Amino acid sequence: MILDQMVADAHGALVRAVPEHMLSTGELLTANQGAAEVLRGGGLVAFPTETVYGLGADAENPAAVARIFAVKGRPADHPLIVHIATPDQILHWAREIPTMAWHLARRYWPGPLTLILRRASCVPDIVTGGQDTVGLRVPDHPLALALLKVFGGGIAAPSANRFGRVSPTTAAHVREELGDAMDLILDGGPCHVGIESTILDLSGHQPRLLRPGAITLAEIEAVLKQPIAQPGNEAPRVPGMLRSHYAPKTPVCLIPPAYLEAEVRWHLGQGQRVAVLSRIALLLPDACLWKGMPDYPAGWARELYARLRALDVQCFDYILIEAPPIGADWQAVRDRLERAASAHPISSPRSSRGISAPFGEVGDHSVN
Ligand code: TXA
Ligand code: MG
Repeated sequence: MILDQMVADAHGALVRAVPEHMLSTGELLTANQGAAEVLRGGGLVAFPTETVYGLGADAENPAAVARIFAVKGRPADHPLIVHIATPDQILHWAREIPTMAWHLARRYWPGPLTLILRRASCVPDIVTGGQDTVGLRVPDHPLALALLKVFGGGIAAPSANRFGRVSPTTAAHVREELGDAMDLILDGGPCHVGIESTILDLSGHQPRLLRPGAITLAEIEAVLKQPIAQPGNEAPRVPGMLRSHYAPKTPVCLIPPAYLEAEVRWHLGQGQRVAVLSRIALLLPDACLWKGMPDYPAGWARELYARLRALDVQCFDYILIEAPPIGADWQAVRDRLERAASAHPISSPRSSRGISAPFGEVGDHSVN
């Protein structure tokens, strides 16, 4: 019944979420067949991955891909990642594939690693923003993998949020933000990684990290047995990789742990409503909302976007967040927090005390 409705509604451009856990294997197959039909018809399917939800279209249908850009409000020069079912499909989408790509695909796919490779001629310009490269990854989510298998082709998919906003980690997030614009939303539960994939550019002379993620620089260096370049702000800009934000509407401030309590009290003293995210437990007045965060990077990553979304609708004046540690393990979480915090000018005592968050290791990659 749910599935019948889903297919009918998909063709009628209405949205039905299909909770994966409610489906048997046979029903899952039917759901994916329905979703694959929507893709073949040029429609948009939001689907779960292990990182964040994607807003998918047939990667070889330029008109369908154009709808992604329209729905997201995304500039045309920001290229999309093509999701594929198996590593061997690299051969269809890329050319001049370096051995390194095979090593990494074997080690990390399915998983949260996107490889930038020289593109094959079948890749439409609209997917790559006109660049000579294409981003590829095999997502590690049973529903995404089943959909890719049934569909058979590549699915071009950015995160299923409006341009510059926080990525969705549940189907409900997608429904709230883009529901009316989707032909179908597949519900695979909360994403277990929670932040976007690591992006590694293998199209040049030296491998280059474009976006930090759950798979760390050190892990990649260990597999490739060579150092990976990290562009700073001075590095040449890749089209579509301009700085932008993963930002809630509420201003976000990052505060070193030692100053957090004083900072909260200062804001409360100004009559402001504040929410606080921190690993450390604080003795705070009841007037502010405190949410404890995990003490390890994967836990932070998994919870971060859902927390920001939940706080964003509560109309706080500020979301104050404990700056995470400097260590390499925290690079991806720090990166996302820095971007969230850079969306709004800051008005607080930190500037007068000369405190700034220790960010900016990976300079010029986009968040969209
Ligand atoms: O985890 C993820 O990567 C999620 C899920 C849905 O797979 N996707 C995602 O897509 O985060 P999006 O579009 O929000 O971010 C993709 C990033 C953008 O910064 C884009 O510029 C970069 O990947 N990218 C894609 N293709 C590229 C290319 N050919 N060269 C350089 N950067 C590229
Ligand atoms: Mg995005």
